[in-house]
Amino acid sequence: MKKNLLVLTTLFASAYLYAPNLLAKTVKVSSPNNKITVSISDENTPSYRVSFNGNQVIDTSLLGLRFQQSADLAEGFTIASSKQKTADSTWQLPWGERKNVRDNHHELIVNFTTNRKTSNQFSVRFRVFNDGIGFRYEVPKQPGLDGDIAITDELTEFNIPHAEKATAWWIPARGWNRYEYIYETTPLSEIDHVHTPLTMKLASGEHISIHEAALVDYAGMTIQKGRHNKLKADLTPWYDGILVRKTANFTSPWRTIQMSKNAAGLLNSDLILNLNEPSKLTDTSWIEPGKYVGIWWGMHVGETTWGSGEQHGATTEETKRYMDFAAKHGFDGVLVEGWNIGWDGDWYDNGDVFNFTQSYDDFDIKAVTEHGLAKGVRLVGHHETSGNVTNYRHQMADAFELYQQHGVRQVKTGYVADGGKIKRIDEHGIARFEWHDGQFMVNEYLDNIKLAAKYQISINTHEPIKDTGLRRTYPNWISREGARGQEYNAWGSPPNPPSHAAILPFTRMLAGPMDFTPGTFNMAFKGLGANTDRPQTTLAKQLALYVVIFSPIQMASDLPRHYEANLPAFQFIKDVPTDWQESKAIDGEIGEYVVIARQERHGKDWYVGALTNENARTIDLPLNFLEQGKRYQAQIYRDGDNANWVDNPYEIIIENKSVSANDSLTLALATSGGTAIRFKALD
Ligand code: NOJ
Ligand code: CA
Repeated sequence: MKKNLLVLTTLFASAYLYAPNLLAKTVKVSSPNNKITVSISDENTPSYRVSFNGNQVIDTSLLGLRFQQSADLAEGFTIASSKQKTADSTWQLPWGERKNVRDNHHELIVNFTTNRKTSNQFSVRFRVFNDGIGFRYEVPKQPGLDGDIAITDELTEFNIPHAEKATAWWIPARGWNRYEYIYETTPLSEIDHVHTPLTMKLASGEHISIHEAALVDYAGMTIQKGRHNKLKADLTPWYDGILVRKTANFTSPWRTIQMSKNAAGLLNSDLILNLNEPSKLTDTSWIEPGKYVGIWWGMHVGETTWGSGEQHGATTEETKRYMDFAAKHGFDGVLVEGWNIGWDGDWYDNGDVFNFTQSYDDFDIKAVTEHGLAKGVRLVGHHETSGNVTNYRHQMADAFELYQQHGVRQVKTGYVADGGKIKRIDEHGIARFEWHDGQFMVNEYLDNIKLAAKYQISINTHEPIKDTGLRRTYPNWISREGARGQEYNAWGSPPNPPSHAAILPFTRMLAGPMDFTPGTFNMAFKGLGANTDRPQTTLAKQLALYVVIFSPIQMASDLPRHYEANLPAFQFIKDVPTDWQESKAIDGEIGEYVVIARQERHGKDWYVGALTNENARTIDLPLNFLEQGKRYQAQIYRDGDNANWVDNPYEIIIENKSVSANDSLTLALATSGGTAIRFKALD
């Protein structure tokens, strides 16, 4: 009898392992246009796969979570029920790439259960749009998951068919330099551990990008490649190795996969914003898009210093001069870095001594702000923490209050510290060292935004947590860095290569606005050529960046004297808006070139930015985005016929043409060149 039972059990076990599970269930949900289909299955273990345009773009990929104390939500779970619904609405951004955003998706919530007494249920909610999918875990309170919960692994996979034939654009994750790496272009099979957005072109030709939306009170997700090129979620840990700490009844951020037949289509996706909550701020009138100059580049090229002394940049007199320059040329703000005590010595390691309310003796905050406000220019504040977040937190409220008293509406924050070296003092007085993208810092960055809102201050975070669309919920999170910006062209060794700005739109920019700080007019602060620290671009490409790289606040980052020396080219920076009614990516190939058209939010004019990598090229630009029947004066800023980025970057031709929607232009871009156009509506 005993023997028979054993035979039976063995038979059953092998049937379970080796035969198709006839009881397995699959449920499906498709996009409104039916081009994307997600299939969720419980065969062996919860999983999903995705097809797009008839091609499999995600192969069978695991779902599930593991915990420190309770049993896993993974193997052995089956689909108990599912429910579908449809949504179609339009909502508005107070500022952004476009005013009206359509949210049209099909949702399927899949409820999984297993036959045990504790930790026995969870759901995965899928939303399928025409431009991709999002899904998140929803874990209700239940026996075994009813108090404090520690997540030790998220099993989510994103398995790409034929990874060796797919091309990926990526930066490494969990490195000392956070998100500030030069992008790599490799077969997907050659990645190791990377950040999101992870963008790729598949063997079938489809373009997809893996990222996340609404990262709140959770660890940031990176992607780790495993055996057989499987791609798996890798959540950034706390100092003690736990990935995420939650209390019962929680949801994860949305895991997102944006999809498009062509590269430019990725740039027209609103998926990340659509998966975020509506604004929590009712009055947003104090959030001001605009342009700024600043006491900034001088420090980066070594003309002035952040710290005190003879070369101190942030003096009252110098700030007043910048305020005058800003007022004369129509800028809204003047950023001042190095005004507050704490910059002397090696400020990278000085985080403990930064004082956010006390200025150096040669900087009078009252005098400079009064001087500026009389001319309609605000001071843009600056809080560099050097990653010492407890020191900042203790002073944050007072620091915002001081700025608010002086009419400051925007503050740039900074978290310069190596990856894994954010210093916080815990409740026992012990120093703990965290990652910029772990759960502790995810919360810390957002708390800073929420507190700033109380003082009607918008925040531009440098060395930030990556953007996941939270600007929809907190529109005072007005911009951030989170990739290599212009500063690397001052001291980068190496600087950003010519392909950098042709990769950024398809990777970093899918997450949200970036404070790249374009507009270097003097490329020769260390000499021209291919091997010096300088922008590896032409002048016209510097102008094109203002349209290509979206940020509601844009800096004209060079020194005033370099703009004064080239007022005709500077005119484009003065004219270009930073807030848009509509944006259309027109053309592009990742790492090669990109063309973007945007219409200003408060008028009829359109703007175009086009830029290329190290290869010169011509691009046809049909003007059918312009309003039919209307005439426009195209004010074109283009590379001169002999321009090239290495030794002739300044040759620029500025010309006007009368055009309409039925015309097209041929853009001739030099090596690492660009074209910037204002289409001034004529009536
Ligand atoms: C790094 C920031 O990206 C840069 O803009 C700033 O000037 C320095 N930190 C100092 O805060
Ligand atoms: Ca930086």
